[in-house]
Amino acid sequence: MAERAEEMIGRQSPGDTRVCLLLGAGGRLGRNFCRYLGTQYRIAAVYHKGDAESVRHQEQVIDPLAPDHQPPQMRTCFYPIVADLTDPKSVERIAELALAAFGHVDLIVNGAVHYDLGPGISIEFLERLPHQFTINVVRPLQVAVEVYQRSWRFTPEENRLLRRNVINLSSVAALNVYPASGQLGYSSCKAALVMASRHLASELRPTEVRVNVVAPNTFPGIVGVEQVLATLYDLDSGSTTGEVRVVDRE
Ligand SMILES: NC(=O)c1ccc[n+]([C@@H]2O[C@H](COP(=O)([O-])OP(=O)(O)OC[C@H]3O[C@@H](n4cnc5c(N)ncnc54)[C@H](OP(=O)(O)O)[C@@H]3O)[C@@H](O)[C@H]2O)c1
Repeated sequence: MAERAEEMIGRQSPGDTRVCLLLGAGGRLGRNFCRYLGTQYRIAAVYHKGDAESVRHQEQVIDPLAPDHQPPQMRTCFYPIVADLTDPKSVERIAELALAAFGHVDLIVNGAVHYDLGPGISIEFLERLPHQFTINVVRPLQVAVEVYQRSWRFTPEENRLLRRNVINLSSVAALNVYPASGQLGYSSCKAALVMASRHLASELRPTEVRVNVVAPNTFPGIVGVEQVLATLYDLDSGSTTGEVRVVDRE
């Protein structure tokens, strides 16, 4: 992680801290994003049930170059937003608050997820599928489009210069079947998110907004959360759009 982080930091000048709107800030990915990349981005962090204030105080920003040493005042800015993605009104609220907090958004990371595992041969389970699709696919797309409608569509040149970007978290479950895992719903959502992201990338290309996907295996465990974050950061530091990066064991 330290070497990757060194590369990461080397590519960014101190004055241009990007603004990231982070969905799922209280989750495994979200917490580690704030922890390891909190010096690289100003973060509008969206929590659901997680207590944003207590998370904020528990969180310590870690300098990845010196993880044992706590640097003073490293976090540039952190703005917590509490929202429930099951609520359609959350879309406007999240975009409005994030844009009001920082004036603009450069990166949207969608790390929110609702897991509902169950047998695909159950009518009752299939009846619940739309709910899972709403939180895992529809709302994150709506949040990105809301930011586009309110801000990005007016600023194509700025979007190009700032390499504005949406990164959706999919999974290797979008590509593989794991027998008896109950992942019909989750897998389908993650597969849908991949294709929806690629379509959105194509539709937003004229306004120079990028849309990319990170598809990891289980973290922490099969892959490290640092690997997922490094991939995410690398994608954001580049200029590609419509890319799907799998993070799996070597
Ligand atoms: N961890 C893995 O092994 C793995 C592997 C492959 C892909 N992924 C993907 O990577 C992303 C991050 O995974 P993770 O492990 O960090 O997930 P996680 O720990 O389960 O966190 C998910 C987050 O989603 C938020 N959320 C759930 N329902 C919500 C709602 N109705 N409104 C707003 N937020 C809601 C939760 O908020 P609160 O905590 O505030 O309730 C939580 O912080 C997900 O897209 C996941 O599918 C994860």
